[in-house]
Amino acid sequence: MTAPKPKKLFIKTYGCQMNVYDSERMSGALEAAGYEPTDSPDAADMILLNTCHIREKAAEKVYSELGRLKPLKAANPDLRIGVTGCVAQAEGEEIMRRQPAVDLVVGPQAYHRLPDLEAKVRAGQRALDTEFPQEDKFDHLPPARGPKARRAPTAFLTVQEGCDKFCAFCVVPYTRGAEASRPPARILAEARDLVERGVVEITLLGQNVNAYHGPGEDGDWTLARLIRELAGIDGLQRIRFTTSHPNDMGEDLIAAHGQIAKLMPYLHLPVQSGSDRILKAMNRKHTAAGYLAILDRIRAARPDIALSGDFIVGFPGETEEDFQATLELCEKVRYAQAYSFKYSARPGTPAAGREEVPEEVKSERLHRLQALLSRHQAEFQQAMVGRTLPVLLEKPGRMPGQMVGRSPFLQAVHMQADPALAGRIVAARITAAEPNSLAGALADAGAA
Ligand code: SAH
Ligand code: SF4
Ligand code: F3S
Repeated sequence: MTAPKPKKLFIKTYGCQMNVYDSERMSGALEAAGYEPTDSPDAADMILLNTCHIREKAAEKVYSELGRLKPLKAANPDLRIGVTGCVAQAEGEEIMRRQPAVDLVVGPQAYHRLPDLEAKVRAGQRALDTEFPQEDKFDHLPPARGPKARRAPTAFLTVQEGCDKFCAFCVVPYTRGAEASRPPARILAEARDLVERGVVEITLLGQNVNAYHGPGEDGDWTLARLIRELAGIDGLQRIRFTTSHPNDMGEDLIAAHGQIAKLMPYLHLPVQSGSDRILKAMNRKHTAAGYLAILDRIRAARPDIALSGDFIVGFPGETEEDFQATLELCEKVRYAQAYSFKYSARPGTPAAGREEVPEEVKSERLHRLQALLSRHQAEFQQAMVGRTLPVLLEKPGRMPGQMVGRSPFLQAVHMQADPALAGRIVAARITAAEPNSLAGALADAGAA
């Protein structure tokens, strides 16, 4: 008897790294139900859109993509279409109502039920599951891609989910639910498994990753303790984590940056605004000075750390003076990298009903902030030229013979290198800097 032909699964991922990780885990879960991944929606028997609800534009993309996919269903009656992720959680029933082509809606906390839900939609029913069940979804999701398949050199590993901070603009506490940490033993086992598959760099993920407090046998572990234990895994060479909240930047985590060589000198620590008035209206529960004081302590522990941040401009009530305070904060910090957004009112969040800053004012402020942030980023990039950095080579570049890797500061580095070196950390002399990448050349062994 021959095995049944595998069905094809196409997943399109939007939003943050947690969605990237979840997509991999969902792919693993559906493998058990007889699916194998495909890169083409045309060839698929199941299409999942793993969505993001953080800003209006992100959420709108889902509906336009569903419109594009609809004709595929006419061509292939066996095709099933599902929506997962944060839009599924926030607007599941509306999606079902507005888009008859959608067979399946699953919220982020119910992914382990995917195989059962798949069977239901295969049988011709529609299915919606946006519950927050008691059980931990990660306990029930099989590892991705078969028993010991090789992996790319870098991987994400979700250690914490959800958020209890309730920033006034943010949907995450509603779409991902209450803050919850996975047990350290499970995380360590998953990390060892990744390393056995060839992973050398792990980025620990959480919406509030530094609030991690996973239940160990000897009490709750902090993120610093978890990183310390992970650093003991042979073969794991680099550890990163994202995203952190300033108020959860514990003393032991700050100290870890000076003590654990495998912990990379890069920290994404969003502040959102430099104005105390706006920070209060955002319910951030810290001041600009408090944030800068934390950065001082981090820099004392790790002087060369590269800092990255997120900003929202045009939050309701933001005046030109408030905005100036944001520019001043940026001047003080000099971020190596930063992400900035126009405020987007999100249904159900506390700030949603507040009077908005006019769109053209938001645009103009975003433009000015981005010009400043780009200048600082360019300076940071330029300062690398002439230095020799340890670069983790990840994959082939666009040019023949070229490989792309990452510096300790998360910069992309392009260089001529043998593809067989993928997964190795090499010494690279930096020869040129672009705004978003560096060019390098292999240096003599041991020079890094
Ligand atoms: N958990 C992370 C990030 C959450 S979302 C944290 O606490 O920092 C990523 C970024 O999107 C946020 O840092 C914020 O800058 C931006 N963002 C979130 N909600 C937004 C909204 N309603 N409008 C515009 N930007 C928003
Ligand atoms: Fe959203 Fe604030 Fe929680 Fe970050 S800390 S996920 S911005 S509510
Ligand atoms: Fe978007 Fe949900 Fe991540 S709203 S940013 S996909 S947690």
